[in-house]
Amino acid sequence: MTKMTPPNLSLYVHIPWCVQKCPYCDFNSHALKDTIPEAQYIDALLEDLDSDIERYQLNANPRPLHSIFIGGGTPSLISPQGIERLLSGIRARIAFKDDIEITMEANPGTIEAERFGGYQVAGVTRISIGVQSFAAEKLQRLGRIHGEQEAVNAAKLAHTIGLNSFNLDLMHGLPDQSVQEALSDLEQAIELNPPHLSWYQLTIEPNTLFYSKPPVLPDDDALWDIFELGHQKLTQAGYVQYEISGYSKPGYQCQHNLNYWRFGDYLGIGCGSAGKISFVDGRIVRTTKIKHPKGYLAAYQNLTKPYLSDEHQVEHKERPFEFFMNRFRLLEACPKQDFIDTTGLALDVIAPTMNWAVEKGYIDESVTSWQVTEKGKLFLNDLLAAFMDESE
Ligand SMILES: C[S@@+](CC[C@H](N)C(=O)[O-])C[C@H]1O[C@@H](n2cnc3c(N)ncnc32)[C@H](O)[C@@H]1O
Ligand code: SF4
Repeated sequence: MTKMTPPNLSLYVHIPWCVQKCPYCDFNSHALKDTIPEAQYIDALLEDLDSDIERYQLNANPRPLHSIFIGGGTPSLISPQGIERLLSGIRARIAFKDDIEITMEANPGTIEAERFGGYQVAGVTRISIGVQSFAAEKLQRLGRIHGEQEAVNAAKLAHTIGLNSFNLDLMHGLPDQSVQEALSDLEQAIELNPPHLSWYQLTIEPNTLFYSKPPVLPDDDALWDIFELGHQKLTQAGYVQYEISGYSKPGYQCQHNLNYWRFGDYLGIGCGSAGKISFVDGRIVRTTKIKHPKGYLAAYQNLTKPYLSDEHQVEHKERPFEFFMNRFRLLEACPKQDFIDTTGLALDVIAPTMNWAVEKGYIDESVTSWQVTEKGKLFLNDLLAAFMDESE
């Protein structure tokens, strides 16, 4: 097998509880029936990390953590003291890079916002606030438990306490939403001047309430107008789109997400979390942890059966598709060297498919990089499928 230099290493931590389940959400989150077993879950997370470190011998070739993302669910249900214990526990096990980015997702409710300062003291450098909309009626349709003024206050607070960065999550294409309403949401978000704005189009996912009782969504023409006009507004306000739904002021891209899309490595701890780890001997291993909180917590202190629910190697033939599926989400050019470094493969493996993509006008190729063209973006599924065929 070819030798590899493992890429940046990040860490994802999953918190699987919410106050209630939103009707559009298919994330691994469970409505809280009781209080969170906070202390026990944090113990389990750290034990889960210990077991990854041992199983994959991460101390043999130590890599300091590039970023941490505490996602959910609703991580802001965990107290600042809990986050402090979690982060210092992680740091005691794996070194942090000096400029590490530590993001935490938070709901904008007043109680959560009051905790922002405590999270910052605990080491969080970036908070991602789930605003979704500023319209009371839309928030209600989305089953959100915060009001529009709470979202405004949370964003202002994130500025005041001087976090390195913060993000607002906003969705568009909402039930019965007009183009004007979607743009008004965006204008209000821009007004708050967040360094980063994630602007997602609502998708109806299987296993959600919206899937079984579909709401009326804007038609394709309206969705197109929302995207075109919204993109213009964001660009005029100084935001640069760097990913399908990711906009940031220059220098404020989310380092954690960039590492995913650049096919970097990440450990995943907590219910249902996914990991990807590369080894100097050329292996790439993917991991998934036990999904349900009950099963996950039952694994606690049972070291004969750690928290894994799946573990498999990524075969050579699967790597081009996996690499480009992530990489082509990004709008930046892709250095060819990144393909070699993170897949452990030589360029000639993909040369025939790449030549086909260049001929079709999907890719512009230079000596050192590839860039997806406007046509390639429109036919992204075809383009990716070509790399998948190659793996069969
Ligand atoms: C991990 S989720 C949830 C974070 C946090 N619990 C919240 O809801 O604010 C991250 C973001 O994905 C977006 N999202 C979730 N479900 C979606 C869907 N079905 N379609 C589009 N965006 C979605 C929302 O903007 C959400 O804030
Ligand atoms: S709060 Fe976030 S994670 Fe929880 S159910 Fe709603 S969208 Fe999903």
